[in-house]
Amino acid sequence: MCWIEKKTINKILSSRWEETKERKTMSRKYLNDRWCVRCGKTSPCPYIKKNVDLLIPKGSEKPSILDIGCGNGRNMNFLKEFARECKGVDMSPSCPNSVSTILGHDLLPATRRGWNLILANYVFMFLNAKERKQLVSEIKRVASPNAIIVVELYAAKDSEATTEEEISKMQEQLFKQIGWTKIKYSKARFIARKPQ
Ligand SMILES: C[S@@+](CC[C@H](N)C(=O)[O-])C[C@H]1O[C@@H](n2cnc3c(N)ncnc32)[C@H](O)[C@@H]1O
Repeated sequence: MCWIEKKTINKILSSRWEETKERKTMSRKYLNDRWCVRCGKTSPCPYIKKNVDLLIPKGSEKPSILDIGCGNGRNMNFLKEFARECKGVDMSPSCPNSVSTILGHDLLPATRRGWNLILANYVFMFLNAKERKQLVSEIKRVASPNAIIVVELYAAKDSEATTEEEISKMQEQLFKQIGWTKIKYSKARFIARKPQ
């Protein structure tokens, strides 16, 4: 991401930023002191692209999609043509169809039938253990029966998991906490389905 973009985004978000400063989350340091290379990307996550037929099987009913920590909405942009409804949540959302949300503190938006596909790409590392626990319980609350979740992690500087070992530990912990059926599980990422 270039400096102009970073400066502009920080300016737009300054009011929300003041609020999050008080909350002492890792995302505070993340947004304030460092910038993540993944945040500027506009092409979808390769893992989502690669698994799109698994996430949204051809001929199936169009799903509702919740993108947690959506950033610029690159994954929603890619998936929206296959979806009935898309919503993003982020402390600093910079895309349409998204709402400002402090993960690990605020409630996630709910729909009457529950979200069918939940994305959490490169976000859990910025939450501490208590926040991750709250977010996982929110995910379970707003997910539809049979919902699918995609989780991707990476060892981000200034996050709660800065090494591959820490990422692997966090991944195991998250998979266990979510407790859904494994569809795919590989290094730093997994896809799971909520049992009916
Ligand atoms: C590495 S970016 C990933 C963005 C998007 N998922 C993607 O794959 O392009 C992490 C995102 O998480 C958001 N984030 C980090 N901590 C957060 C928090 N505590 N509450 C809400 N959003 C947070 C950031 O604002 C950022 O947009």
